[in-house]
Amino acid sequence: MDFQKVIEIRQSIRKFNGEQVSEDIIRQMISAAQAAPLWKNSQTSRYYCVLSPDQVEKFRDTVLPSFNQNSTKDATAYIITTFKKDISGFTNGTADNEVGNGWGAYDLGLHDMLLCAKATELGVDTLIMGLRDSKVVADFCNVPEDEQIMSIIAVGYRADSISPKPARKAIEDISKFI
Ligand SMILES: Cc1cc2nc3c(=O)[nH]c(=O)nc-3n(C[C@H](O)[C@H](O)[C@H](O)COP(=O)(O)O)c2cc1C
Repeated sequence: MDFQKVIEIRQSIRKFNGEQVSEDIIRQMISAAQAAPLWKNSQTSRYYCVLSPDQVEKFRDTVLPSFNQNSTKDATAYIITTFKKDISGFTNGTADNEVGNGWGAYDLGLHDMLLCAKATELGVDTLIMGLRDSKVVADFCNVPEDEQIMSIIAVGYRADSISPKPARKAIEDISKFI
């Protein structure tokens, strides 16, 4: 699929059709994510993939607030995204600048964008969710304490009728050309 088409088609989906996503597709998404640029190639992004139908249901019911449960009730996988703290943006345990672990989050965001773009290319849809109970996520997935839990990405196939993609500001409102 043409890159411009990927940009246009990708949107947050809050109505899935229940079709099962395969492990192979999730692996292709993660492989694409790994191609992202990142701080000194430090590779601190981590992915926990919940795929089996019983675990997907349990995960949805325990870690998501009700509106995110509803939006993803027919999604068939969740990817929990984390990064290893105090590495990206750090040298020998000391932050290289004021951003600190913001660089780990930055790297992970770049990865996650490629992951979602690859999903679109494969005909799969996603919803990134920042609202979740991170303590319950840590217990559910056994996430070690040196990792920062960030988003949960619901994965599935879009239903026939979905809301339109929300409008964006004008380029002039967000950019300065100097
Ligand atoms: C870091 C982050 C957290 C988000 N958290 C949620 C969430 O908890 N629930 C939700 O429905 N959408 C969530 N979204 C999706 C945004 O609302 C959505 O990307 C934005 O409105 C633009 O719409 P689009 O993705 O369709 O272009 C999140 C997106 C990002 C990048």
